[in-house]
Amino acid sequence: ESTLGAAAAQSDRYFGVAIASGRLNDSVYTSIANREFTSVTAENEMKIDATQPQRGQFNFTAGDRVYNWAVQNGKQVRGHTLAWHSQQPGWMQNLNGGELRQAMTDHITGVMTHYRGKIVEWDVVNEAFADGGSGARRDSNLQRSGNDWIEVAFRAARAADPAAKLCYNDYNVENWNSAKTQAMYAMVRDFKQRGVPIDCVGFQAHFNEGNPYNSNFRTTLQSFAALGVDVSVTELDIQGASPTTFANVTNDCLAVARCVGITVWGVRDSDSWRSHHTPLLFNNDGSKKPAYDAVLNAL
Ligand code: XIL
Repeated sequence: ESTLGAAAAQSDRYFGVAIASGRLNDSVYTSIANREFTSVTAENEMKIDATQPQRGQFNFTAGDRVYNWAVQNGKQVRGHTLAWHSQQPGWMQNLNGGELRQAMTDHITGVMTHYRGKIVEWDVVNEAFADGGSGARRDSNLQRSGNDWIEVAFRAARAADPAAKLCYNDYNVENWNSAKTQAMYAMVRDFKQRGVPIDCVGFQAHFNEGNPYNSNFRTTLQSFAALGVDVSVTELDIQGASPTTFANVTNDCLAVARCVGITVWGVRDSDSWRSHHTPLLFNNDGSKKPAYDAVLNAL
C-alpha cells in the first residue's frame, strides 16, 4: 500500500492524525492529512474550554470545523476529551465538590448529545493518574470532588451516546513496569469487574527522554486488551523520530488483536506541540521523513 491509512486498513485498523482547525486553510497540510490518514482527532477543538467557554453555553464552531472536514473526507473521528484537569474554562476551574460534579456530567451530556452517533470513540476521562512512583490519582478539582468521579463520568457518557466507545486516555503509561501503568490497569480491571461502562484505553505515547519507549509496551497493550477493552495509540510522537522506534510502536499495535489503531499527534514537525523534538512523520516542507517509511513498511 502507498499510504498509512490504506496500509493500516489491510488489518482493519485506522491510522489517524490530530488536526488543528487553524491549519485547515493550509493546502500542504490538508493534502497530506487527507491522503495519509483515515481517522481524525481534534487537537484542541473538542476540549472543555473550547466547547463550553461559558457555563451552559456550548460552542461547537471549531469542533464542527474539524469534524466536518474529517467526515467530508471520509474519515472517522475520535472525540477528545470530556473530563480533564487541564484546559478547563475559568468558570469550571473555580468549581468544586457537588457543583463541579454536576457541571462535569452536564458537560459530558451536552457535548456527547451534539455529536451523538457521530463519534466512534470518546476519550471520556483524560490523564487522571499522577506521575511518579505513587500510583495515586492526580490531584485536581475533579479528583477532590470524590474518587468516584471517573466512573460517574463514564456512566454519564454511556447514557448520552450509547453507540460511542468510551475510552480512558493517559500518558506515561506505556511502560508495563511503571506504577502509573499499574494503577491504570487496576482501575480498568475494577471497572470491568463492577460493570462500569468502559470500552477502550488510549495510550498517548508521547515518547521522549523522560518517557522513553520500552519494548514491554506490547505487554502493556496485551495486558489491557486481556481485560476486555480495545486499546489504541492515541497521540503518538517520538522525540527525534527514530524510525526504529516508530516501527516498534507500529509492530506492537499490530501484534495485539484488540489494538484498533494508531493516531499521530500532528502532521509535520512544525505542526507539533513539541516541534523542537521534531517528533512526527513529515518534514516542515511536507516531505516524508525516514520514520514515515519505517511505519509504512511495518504496517
Ligand atoms: C495539547 C495540544 O497539542 C496543544 O496544542 C495544547 O496547547 C495543549 O494540549 N495530552 C493530551 C492532549 O491529551 O490533549 C495534549 O494536546 C497533549 C497531551
